[in-house]
Amino acid sequence: MKILVTGGAGFVGSHVSEYYAKKGDEVIALDNLSRASLLGTDIKSIDYNWNYLKENYDNITLVKEDIRNVNALEEYARDVDAIIHTAAQTAVTSSVVDPRADFEVNALGTFNVIEAARKSKSNPCVVYCSTNKVYGDNANNIKVIETDTRYAFDDGRYRNGLSETFQTDLCEHTPYGASKFTGDVYVQDYSERGEIDAAVFRMSCIYGTRQLGVEDQGWVAWFTIATVLGKPIKIYGDGKQVRDVLYVTDLV
Ligand SMILES: NC(=O)c1ccc[n+]([C@@H]2O[C@H](COP(=O)([O-])OP(=O)(O)OC[C@H]3O[C@@H](n4cnc5c(N)ncnc54)[C@H](O)[C@@H]3O)[C@@H](O)[C@H]2O)c1
Repeated sequence: MKILVTGGAGFVGSHVSEYYAKKGDEVIALDNLSRASLLGTDIKSIDYNWNYLKENYDNITLVKEDIRNVNALEEYARDVDAIIHTAAQTAVTSSVVDPRADFEVNALGTFNVIEAARKSKSNPCVVYCSTNKVYGDNANNIKVIETDTRYAFDDGRYRNGLSETFQTDLCEHTPYGASKFTGDVYVQDYSERGEIDAAVFRMSCIYGTRQLGVEDQGWVAWFTIATVLGKPIKIYGDGKQVRDVLYVTDLV
């Protein structure tokens, strides 16, 4: 197969690229290498995954390109079997500071991806990395109980988490949640109307190797990095918040 991975130098995207490359497929890892500047960190971190893929896999073609460039996207999607769309502006904090950039990458960029898939002669299927943020603060309306170390949902219906039918609107979102949800709904619509074959993953917290986490995004990695480097870890709230975590290769 031939696979186009948007955000291919990112954490999830580099693992997706590696997975298909190991199977012997041909991979195009497309990334504009913006993670460092989006999150205000040093440039070396994003180079790391890019160089890792370059040094280890002959069957991965690295393309420095932007999903906002419609023409380029259509060209790279021309003859692929699948597009795994992981590229995004990923931090809630950055989305509040610059909502336009967030919208242009997450909402319009996702629209560009599905349009490229729709126009492609090879009819690629699309997998979209969405987020649990699409549920906004509706989750905060579920009653919780406080134990010594953590909060837990009081209502037994949610003990194993929220279902994908959980309400997504009539609540407060963030610009990041809204832009990712826009992409989510568009992918669903194109799929429902039979324009493309697609799937949406509403991921919670993904963790694993080569996650170059910072305080604003990728907290499992950030806790690890801060601990190893002796940097302080700031606790927001009372530290009893609970998140689901999933190992990146299990997600892939
Ligand atoms: N990691 C998580 O815990 C998590 C949780 C929920 C959802 N997600 C979603 O999963 C996807 C992957 O997340 P990640 O943790 O790998 O993030 P990441 O920041 O490591 O990877 C995203 C990649 O996209 C690239 N990118 C950003 N804007 C681009 C653009 N305009 N054109 C091309 N490339 C661009 C970045 O340079 C980066 O390499 C994202 O869509 C994110 O919203 C991640």
